[in-house]
Amino acid sequence: MAIKITQIKPDFFDALAALQYDCFPHIPASEYFDQRHFESHFKLFPEGSFVALDDNQVVGFASGLFCDLDLNHPGHKLMESTGQGFYTTHNPDGKFYYAVDLGVHPQYRKSGIGSQFYNLRKALVEKYNKQGIVAGAVPVGYSKFQKVLSPGEYLKKVASHEIYDATLSFQLKNGFKILSLLSNYVENEFNNSAALIYWANPKFTV
Ligand SMILES: CC(C)(COP(=O)(O)OP(=O)(O)OC[C@H]1O[C@@H](n2cnc3c(N)ncnc32)[C@H](O)[C@@H]1OP(=O)(O)O)[C@@H](O)C(=O)NCCC(=O)NCCS
Repeated sequence: MAIKITQIKPDFFDALAALQYDCFPHIPASEYFDQRHFESHFKLFPEGSFVALDDNQVVGFASGLFCDLDLNHPGHKLMESTGQGFYTTHNPDGKFYYAVDLGVHPQYRKSGIGSQFYNLRKALVEKYNKQGIVAGAVPVGYSKFQKVLSPGEYLKKVASHEIYDATLSFQLKNGFKILSLLSNYVENEFNNSAALIYWANPKFTV
């Protein structure tokens, strides 16, 4: 399997929209990105949107935007900070890359594509001397534990490797740290919350 990762372009919009359904089978229909979202990402910040191809088939994506965020008072909602997913909030001068969307087709997982996306995001952050990468991470495995653990307790157990979470453990393995719990982040099975995760750019210079 020879996977190539490239920047978003109009040829990919239809396939990217279809791939959302394969990657996020459990999110509300209103949260899927469609062709209009990808067109906006392409116009506003193409360098921040990566697409994985197997020959000409789109098999993965990772996108985001530059923004400012006060890490000591980080409360925010996903849809507001991403311009309802259109990335109109992208600020080229922002201090951070906000990692918004990431998915790999189920048949292509566990072969390193997700980690390659993170490496490309890190390289982008280094290129533009940003302070780091932030994201609101929604764990996928909470529903099995929701009767016995609060979201905060669940995050602690994932952070200490007592619980493996296919999404959050993957992000921790890619160098991210959990900073705090974001309440009222987006509608989801994690009490509508998320973990604020952060990767600090070791090459950042003031
Ligand atoms: C999270 C997600 C993007 C990871 O993508 P991926 O391409 O499978 O990621 P990688 O292959 O880099 O890493 C996944 C695992 O495969 C392992 N792996 C990587 N290369 C491997 C290889 N050649 N052989 C065996 N395992 C490998 C990694 O070590 C990692 O192990 P872990 O699960 O123990 O952490 C993917 O599971 C996904 O799309 N999930 C649904 C959407 C989602 O949750 N997105 C994230 C939030 S927006």
